[in-house]
Amino acid sequence: MPCTQILGTGSYAPSRVLTNQDLEQLVDTSDAWIRERTGIQERRQAAPDEATSDLAVQASRQALEMAGVSPEDVDLIVVGTVTPDMPMPSCAALVQAKLGARRAFAFDVSAACAGALYALSVADQFVRTGQVKRALVVGADVLSRTVDWTDRNTCVLFGDGAGALVLGADSEPGAMAPRGILSTHLRTDGSLADLLCIPGGGSRTPVTADNVDAKLHKLKMNGKEVFRFAVRALVESTQTSLGAHGMTPGQVDHVIAHQANLRILEAVLERLEIPREKCWLNLHKYGNTSSASLPMSLDEAWRAGRLKRGDVIAMMAIGAGMAWGSAVVRW
Ligand code: ACO
Repeated sequence: MPCTQILGTGSYAPSRVLTNQDLEQLVDTSDAWIRERTGIQERRQAAPDEATSDLAVQASRQALEMAGVSPEDVDLIVVGTVTPDMPMPSCAALVQAKLGARRAFAFDVSAACAGALYALSVADQFVRTGQVKRALVVGADVLSRTVDWTDRNTCVLFGDGAGALVLGADSEPGAMAPRGILSTHLRTDGSLADLLCIPGGGSRTPVTADNVDAKLHKLKMNGKEVFRFAVRALVESTQTSLGAHGMTPGQVDHVIAHQANLRILEAVLERLEIPREKCWLNLHKYGNTSSASLPMSLDEAWRAGRLKRGDVIAMMAIGAGMAWGSAVVRW
């Protein structure tokens, strides 16, 4: 079956910058602690009138422009997000309307920080089978609205952002080595749901004054366990993805990864024996932007001229669920 091509990428980060020094004014923390434990120096925060679909649309417009695809020619929009503008309709439906992508059907995928990778995998299946010609994949989150700004364990980690990819059918069916998305590999372990969750606001614990007072609509995390699990899961998934194509980590030219924590990425790269220089890093300026971070990283790496035709890219992401996975792309 022909491979799906990545035709364009885009990203958007809100203009408001929140530095580690700003956070020192909010909670008992320090710039040194945050840098040393996470690698993060600053993050972006959506303006009060900005919601996830607004960020998603900005990134999408860039991606469509790069791909030379007009919104009317998009058949499918998949948005990976856990912070949609509202519970319903989907964020993807709002993005479709704002872009004027009238022909596209649109839906959200919920896989937290792995959202864009899951969305990419779903859209890839539609394109590969010929059911759609052009798909828009978005990872967008405004986690600043779900973070407890009095909890130093979590509030220092996250930032807001959006990234987008335009996918299309293979343009070179006869090429010697297939190019594009070679495969995706997705995994979930719902028995680990408590490690990272927002317990309130859904059907189990609806929004009530008492629940809001108890901060049940705020993000809760067991950081140490997430860290341990993330390293193991990302290593195993990437080995599986590469192995399916008879490849080893030594053949990887670039790592485009979800940016949760520099120490997680360093541990993963060390175990895979991939040099750190091969991994695009931007968490120092954006923090953990959840679903946005993988497509934002790809967009930055491409626009910086780092990706050369034929390069092998290993993508990897993990988030609440736990949900994780990887992809192998030949550029
Ligand atoms: N500033 C200062 N001190 C802090 C802060 C802070 N912001 N946060 C926690 N501490 C304190 C703790 O209270 C603790 O103090 P104590 O020893 O007196 O109890 C001490 O620092 C050490 O805390 P640990 O939790 O052991 O610190 P650790 O080295 O594990 O780092 C961190 C914490 C950064 C959260 C780490 O566990 C981590 O990155 N985990 C992964 C979590 C993650 O990335 N989540 C993102 C979502 S999931 C995903 O994207 C993969």
